[in-house]
Amino acid sequence: MKRTKIKRLLNKKATGQEVCVNGWVRTRRGSKNVSFIALNDGSTINNIQIVAEGDHFKEEVLKRITTGSAISVIGILVESKGMGQNVEVLAAGIDILGDADPDEYPLQPKKHSLDFLREKAHLRFRTNTFSAVFRLRHALTFAVHKFFNDKGFVNIHTPIITGADAEGAGEMFQVTNLNLEDTPIVDGKVDYTKDFFNIKTNLTVSGQLEAELGALSLGQVYTFGPTFRAENSNTSRHLSEFWMIEPEVAFADLEENMDLAEEFLKYCIQYCITNCEDDLRFLDSRLANEEKSLKKEERSEMGLLERLQFVIENDFERLTYREAIDILRNSKPNKKKKFKYIIEGFGSDLQSEHERYLVEKKFKKPLIISDYPKGVKAFYMKQNEDGETVRAMDILFPQIGEIIGGSQREEDLNKLSNRMEEMEICKEELWWYLETRKFGTCVHSGFGLGFERLIMFVTGMKNIRDVIPFPRTPQNADF
Ligand code: 4AD
Ligand code: MG
Repeated sequence: MKRTKIKRLLNKKATGQEVCVNGWVRTRRGSKNVSFIALNDGSTINNIQIVAEGDHFKEEVLKRITTGSAISVIGILVESKGMGQNVEVLAAGIDILGDADPDEYPLQPKKHSLDFLREKAHLRFRTNTFSAVFRLRHALTFAVHKFFNDKGFVNIHTPIITGADAEGAGEMFQVTNLNLEDTPIVDGKVDYTKDFFNIKTNLTVSGQLEAELGALSLGQVYTFGPTFRAENSNTSRHLSEFWMIEPEVAFADLEENMDLAEEFLKYCIQYCITNCEDDLRFLDSRLANEEKSLKKEERSEMGLLERLQFVIENDFERLTYREAIDILRNSKPNKKKKFKYIIEGFGSDLQSEHERYLVEKKFKKPLIISDYPKGVKAFYMKQNEDGETVRAMDILFPQIGEIIGGSQREEDLNKLSNRMEEMEICKEELWWYLETRKFGTCVHSGFGLGFERLIMFVTGMKNIRDVIPFPRTPQNADF
């Protein structure tokens, strides 16, 4: 008999039909006479209840139905007499597909800490929290593609191995098949002509530069791929391997870029609200529970669902970097030297403490900060008339901080070229990028969304390690 997924079963009307259901046991409780098994197959956060009457089943079989075991049940779908579910399965036959020895199985039906579950990343999918998070991760992936597809964007796959350092930021992971114990050296330097690609190569930190090439022909493109950064920042918001979505649009200026980004974020969040109601409701109460143990001033003002709704319904606040600096300079924590990095004036980079102050204390809504000093931003950003700032924009979210970074790109070959010289970016290496400014250049803009940061916001998870199945962070590449 073909199995029916639990999500479908729970929406069926019980008419005494025979069904087959497979899944993993969450709990089994009951007496000698009757067992109640909560079964989950990952299709939904909700379990189906299996009722197994004692006189039907041998004690040896029932004993093996422990938390974590995989079973297959054939039975009758009946209306449930118990609370919390409409239907349940009255079991006629149970097959044990895979045992899970209760003395060894690490996930017991009690609350495990997220730290503990990170060490059991191979099994944590089986908890309510992580199954909800990863279903939402999928829904967001789908929403991203749908949003851009519906707008006529072309998805391009940019290379993961690259010879160029897109951001000029360093901190890349090198890719080589040279024997590190016996590297070829010429004049005291590693001879990369002997390396696999004949040049020094790295894992990409961004697909932007290649996306720009696509946009200057296809008009509107986006990338959605893994990116790698070897920064040694062990924070709850940084991964060494994370996923980024980078749209790039020809003939669009910074204003249009901001509009696109705001519409995009709202769309993705709305998509989850519409399509992942059960998971979000679960995560909403999970967060509320977690916050009960916090001091009042540390608790969020809004619940998860409320927060998502709020973001969709309100315009993001838009201000320039100069305006942000003025607000920060005159803020209480700055005057009382509560910030670790005191804001002196124009030129200071915004640290996450400043971003959080602006988003969470001052404006209490998503912010778009634009026109940053050129000194804190990448070489490719469009230079403003003032000679000091560039057409950059960062989007900051409550609880998350920076979720998007983007800009209008410098389309003028001379200005771009001069800026690269000033910043000591190798022009020879990026000859192909510069040629787009030589042949049919035009105004264009784009941005990068940190996918895991969006998932953190939507799920209310506070550590980025808990929204990617197998996180890579400094000193950790387990699983
Ligand atoms: O601001 P970033 O560095 O921008 C770029 O890479 C541009 N090339 C994007 C573009 O214009 N096409 O990174 C973009 C976003 C950040 O806003 C942040 O959300 C996320 O990527 N991000 C990280 N997420 C997790 N772990 C890290 N180590 C991250 N670094 C950046
Ligand atoms: Mg950034």
